[in-house]
Amino acid sequence: MTVLVFGSINMDLAAYVPVLPRAGETLIGDNFRTVPGGKGANQAVACARLGARVEMFGRVGDDGFGREHLAVLSSEGVGIAGIAVDRSAKTGVAIIEVDRHGENTIVVISGANMEIGEEDVDRCAAALHRASALLLQLEVPLDANLEIAKLAQARGVPVILDPAPARELPEEIFSLVDILTPNEVEAESLVGFAVNGRETAEQAAALLRQQGVGRVVIKMAHRGAYYAGENEAGWVKPFDVKAVDTVAAGDAFNGGVAAAIAEGTGFKEALRWGAAAGALTVMRRGAIDSLPTRADLDLLLSQ
Ligand code: RIB
Repeated sequence: MTVLVFGSINMDLAAYVPVLPRAGETLIGDNFRTVPGGKGANQAVACARLGARVEMFGRVGDDGFGREHLAVLSSEGVGIAGIAVDRSAKTGVAIIEVDRHGENTIVVISGANMEIGEEDVDRCAAALHRASALLLQLEVPLDANLEIAKLAQARGVPVILDPAPARELPEEIFSLVDILTPNEVEAESLVGFAVNGRETAEQAAALLRQQGVGRVVIKMAHRGAYYAGENEAGWVKPFDVKAVDTVAAGDAFNGGVAAAIAEGTGFKEALRWGAAAGALTVMRRGAIDSLPTRADLDLLLSQ
């Protein structure tokens, strides 16, 4: 079975800085890199590196960044036949700053990602019959996400939504989602109160489940993740690693969960894969280039 990823493709322009600059400040950085990223593309590669068959659906511009990105996705074993080259828009870019502690700020200029629409939904829908899961994020138009989620649900394909970047969501989306994976900031924006510990994570997950989500997994960085579903709830323990760059850690988590599901593991084991993939990713700089291989994952899980 195949994991389908419907989502964004960006080229990341990453500056490494001692501290994140304040408004009005000019800062001399330490380093600069251009690396393929985008939440959709990162999740697709995360999954592929862990051994899943993956097909990606999205859009790039007819430009150098787009061509470079497609070549990388293809060399990573991600099926790119479902990615359209949009002649009227540029490939999405993300301007990223990463400080010495690995914290980051990201500004996304969506470009072709926001041109995703009916045609892209149709291409992805045609692949649903071979899907073990559908991965969605929020860097593409919401209508397109809703449409493909409805079609996936009708086909019985589990929908995993990473509600990132944070934004308000229409109520109808919640009952289409089998696994919702916000981080603390995204969870707060969905429920309207701060989610920063056990109690608030439990309350947030309960609220989101009442709205129709099957399982809620709140990613809480070095504190691990809280999950809740029907008759199940608990914590996924964090892995103790040194973070140098947290970019794409959330994407690695989702890719890990989907890859495990594609391999037929249970839900709790899938969460362990997700947590391990996220932990390995923060140990390296970059987006796609920081994602772990299956050998990395197996080693961490065996320790
Ligand atoms: O989640 C990390 C990603 O967010 C980056 O690769 C960047 O492109 C933005 O989409």
